[in-house]
Amino acid sequence: MPTSGLPFKGQSCDSGPVRTISARSLALLLGSGPLPRPAYRGLADGIRRLVSDGRLLVGTRLPSERTLTTELGLSRTTVGAALDALRDEGFVATRRGSGSVVCLPAGPSGLALSQAGLIPTDVPPDVIDLTYAALPAAAGVTAAYERSLLELPRFLATAGYDPRGLAETRAAVAAWFEDRGLPTSPDQVVITSGAHGGLSAVLRSQLEIGDRILVESPTYPNALVGVRRSAYRAVPAQLTATGWDVEAIEVGLRQSGARAAYLIPDHQNPTGLVMDAPTRQALAGVLARANTVPVVDETFVELGLEDETTTSRPSPFAASSPAAHTLGSAGKTWWGGLRVGWVRAPRGGAEAVIEARHSLDLGTAVLEQLVVTDLLRQGESLLTERRREARSRRDALVTALRQHVPDWRLTVPSGGLNLWCELPEARGDELARVAESAGVRLARGGQFGVEGGFTRWVRVPFCVAPDEADEVGRRLATAWQLALGERPTTRDVTPLIA
Ligand SMILES: Cc1ncc(COP(=O)(O)O)c(C=O)c1O
Repeated sequence: MPTSGLPFKGQSCDSGPVRTISARSLALLLGSGPLPRPAYRGLADGIRRLVSDGRLLVGTRLPSERTLTTELGLSRTTVGAALDALRDEGFVATRRGSGSVVCLPAGPSGLALSQAGLIPTDVPPDVIDLTYAALPAAAGVTAAYERSLLELPRFLATAGYDPRGLAETRAAVAAWFEDRGLPTSPDQVVITSGAHGGLSAVLRSQLEIGDRILVESPTYPNALVGVRRSAYRAVPAQLTATGWDVEAIEVGLRQSGARAAYLIPDHQNPTGLVMDAPTRQALAGVLARANTVPVVDETFVELGLEDETTTSRPSPFAASSPAAHTLGSAGKTWWGGLRVGWVRAPRGGAEAVIEARHSLDLGTAVLEQLVVTDLLRQGESLLTERRREARSRRDALVTALRQHVPDWRLTVPSGGLNLWCELPEARGDELARVAESAGVRLARGGQFGVEGGFTRWVRVPFCVAPDEADEVGRRLATAWQLALGERPTTRDVTPLIA
């Protein structure tokens, strides 16, 4: 077997525990049709595509050349040449005695460039920023601030530090969970600096440096950054086109011994998938048996867009999982600038979260907690309008994309704020790189993957106003042409009229 000194500089192959794939499973992933000629190139392209799509995970050990030869009905020379090509491109590393392992090459689609999270930075005025999924403030937020200002003097005589959160805010969050059928005491609730602050505190309360955490792939990039920066090790749980593969997760837990699992069951970011009720129950059982703590992110739960009300959606994950820590947020429901979120801890579990929080921050702003209390108490009245607004943005953007980039494949999500689009070619990195010259800023698909990859995917949040959607579609079409290396004949970009 040819060997090389790989992994070479920048190449990323190690993602924790060793995974293997059988020749049979690899053949199934490659599909049953004949390979494009020459066959070695067809096989190499097929495997590279599986890596780019995130279906073949980095770190997976490939079957031996001999078993692949038998299973695929190809000659040993063809299989050997395909692996040689993949080694040359950096998608496979081979070590004598331990076989060939799937890698990502250094460079634009490699891990080094997929570490960054999504943090809004200054955007030139003529560029439309599609890197983050958040709407402008909901109707009713200003009025809630005005009412809360009248409440504030009650608190000005106190020190103002309260790492647990205001009693009335915790009670309002607990009542919101109760309305969703999940008995919750205010003592289980900690008010945090957004769901992100809640995630950091929960992980710190549950994990030690070096511990493994199961993470959906693709997932929310800032969560991945938090996991990596805290030196926990992310173990990918590949999402399928329809959602969560409970059996594969069970195997992943057994192999990795992950102590926690970060899940987004409601309008998953970026795919928009919703975990159905039987899967919630099955997964909760698997996690309980593995002694793995579910950390459930419900940031998008209120943004079900198909005439959904609080009672018409699947029960909260925690209803099937007494050990779950649930993260919530005011950020998508009402406004990201509130920077208010919450943790619903298991019974008796809030103290550990509060203690862990001390190394992160010392509490959440009082005025904003009052605003969120006010908004929570208004219940469905504001949410109906919020969902209508998000729905009209989604529908306008879907129409624009179907018109301007008809070969991008997208499934219209039933909620959340994201379109997860499959590109006809694995040129997502190029797309993100050139997008700004076409007047849009995009996140790379690789930012959503535990090990990068996802170069066939792009996330387009539907947060622009409906009357900007057509312009976004045009700019994305221009960017896509640039990414394909086909310079458009004219730069068909008109300035955005706000
Ligand atoms: C899945 C998910 N969790 C958490 C957050 C962060 O929420 P917050 O603004 O409440 O910190 C986001 C923001 O985009 C998100 O998409």
